[in-house]
Amino acid sequence: MIVMLNNKCNLNKEEFLNYLEDLKTIRTEEDLIVCPSTINLSMYDNNVFPLGAQNVSKYITGPHTGEISSKQLKSYGVKYCIVGHSERRQEQNESNKDTNEKIKMLLNEGIIPVLCVGETKEERDNNTYKEVITKEINDAIKDLNEEEQESIIVAYEPIYSIGTGIIPKNNEIEEIFKLIKEILPTNKILYGGSANENNIDELKQTKEIDGYLLGGLSLNITKLKDFLSKL
Ligand code: 13P
Repeated sequence: MIVMLNNKCNLNKEEFLNYLEDLKTIRTEEDLIVCPSTINLSMYDNNVFPLGAQNVSKYITGPHTGEISSKQLKSYGVKYCIVGHSERRQEQNESNKDTNEKIKMLLNEGIIPVLCVGETKEERDNNTYKEVITKEINDAIKDLNEEEQESIIVAYEPIYSIGTGIIPKNNEIEEIFKLIKEILPTNKILYGGSANENNIDELKQTKEIDGYLLGGLSLNITKLKDFLSKL
């Protein structure tokens, strides 16, 4: 199973250095990927687990103040990068076109994009969620060849589940995974949104899940170990 740790905008310098020590105590067979906040990427020295980033610029290296290019990420050993997280879509107005441009930048450097898709509570309630997710994927993979499309990891993160403690029902997750597979039949698909050591037994019943994208749990190594032991 792939288990991606999305630290989001957490851990200052000292906290991150302690976190690195704690990470070294994890023994797992799972494919753990650590996604620190960008400012901590250069301090990552735990080579046991591959390094991921949380965002990339849609621009190439050059005059783009405040941006971090895919070339720069690569030079720091980044192997994976989250794209289109709902927090960026909502807070930074990131569009489907932006995700497409970012994915292209990452693929140019051989970094594996982890494309986040998911609906709001409102979109679920008004039954537009399938359309929304289909468009998020189709727009994100526009102009990519088959091999490039197949290299992407997709993460289904229903927005109403992120940080709320609410997880969708198994049949709801299965329905979305089926939808994703209609467009990308062979790609790995992760689930993200309040996944934790208490609800993993329930989530595990959905056999199609290839792994998890963890936010809050990524910051609590004790609970994370518990989670990993239950996979
Ligand atoms: P939580 O696990 O904190 O709900 O966050 C999920 C997420 O957004 C991971 O990218």
